[in-house]
Amino acid sequence: MKYLFIRLHEACNAGCWFCNFAKSNDRFRLSPEKYQEILEECLRQKVNYIRFTGGEPLLDLNLPTYIRQATDLGIKCSIITNGSLLSRNVAKLKAAGLSQIIVSIDDIGENHNNNRQIKDLYNKAIDGLKRCKELGILTRVNTVCGPHNYKRMPQLKEEFSKIGVDYWELSALKLEEKIEYDATYDEIHEVIEKVYFSDDGIIPFGKMWCGDTLQEQNMYFKESIPPRVRTECSMTSRVRYYDAKNNNIYVCSLLPHRGLPKEDYYHFSENEKFAYTNDAIDRIAQKYRIHGKEICNGCSSTAAFYGERDCSYSEKSDWEY
Ligand SMILES: C[S@@+](CC[C@H](N)C(=O)[O-])C[C@H]1O[C@@H](n2cnc3c(N)ncnc32)[C@H](O)[C@@H]1O
Ligand code: SF4
Repeated sequence: MKYLFIRLHEACNAGCWFCNFAKSNDRFRLSPEKYQEILEECLRQKVNYIRFTGGEPLLDLNLPTYIRQATDLGIKCSIITNGSLLSRNVAKLKAAGLSQIIVSIDDIGENHNNNRQIKDLYNKAIDGLKRCKELGILTRVNTVCGPHNYKRMPQLKEEFSKIGVDYWELSALKLEEKIEYDATYDEIHEVIEKVYFSDDGIIPFGKMWCGDTLQEQNMYFKESIPPRVRTECSMTSRVRYYDAKNNNIYVCSLLPHRGLPKEDYYHFSENEKFAYTNDAIDRIAQKYRIHGKEICNGCSSTAAFYGERDCSYSEKSDWEY
């Protein structure tokens, strides 16, 4: 199974306090010509899935066309979005062949609107999810969890269960600085119990946001290291992440956010064609496959879970990752 993430651009209409792209007016946009080149390589490499991300991908008016072109080649497409523009675009996206939508929702109502600095965003995002469900697009919510919102995860669980969200990813907030929880063991475990062990609604997939084992939880709460693989990491064989503006490719979707040294990603030179793989990219993948368990400080609960499994592993569907 091969996934390609494409960061189309950095521009974003939201102002999330935890994100480097907050309210970015960056003018770069992926060109349709470059996208054709990417698709040709996806065909050669038998890429199964393309996930569009940003910035806010729905700001690119070419997106429905990009989805149609990939879908016509047998490649399934998903979008990860803040949801602000989803309702008004959902019919177009469905017509283009969109398979899955991933909406980022981290908190309830006004808390979410304030965190992301968009008026009424929570209702817009929920409405977008409902419209996707009506049209048969697979729905997933990505929630970034940290000290500021962890207590409301049970409430989010209730809301997502009510509308029948298909998948829920609950991942740890990552920041450059140390993340401190002003919470007791009992307070954290009350949340864990309600979210992961109470059979009254959707249960997030992957590892728990703060780790599954005592050792993982100690690393997370004491050192701010989110759960990562304990074995070799198979994500490096499944996933590539292309940052279109900077013309860089990464061997996992979590690495681009970590300020990596230059030798840990591959930069395409000006006239070089896009490649999903080459010797240099494979060498980096091999490094992270073996050493990810010691060096990855920005992994996600989902990638950590799948990274520990064989490439062919699929519990419910390939779209889980
Ligand atoms: C960079 S956003 C791009 C797509 C879209 N704008 C959105 O918010 O869904 C991709 C994902 O990264 C998450 N994210 C952003 N900053 C983060 C951080 N500091 N720690 C963990 N996840 C983060 C977002 O919540 C979102 O789910
Ligand atoms: S909506 Fe997404 S890209 Fe935009 S600021 Fe928030 S997390 Fe970043």
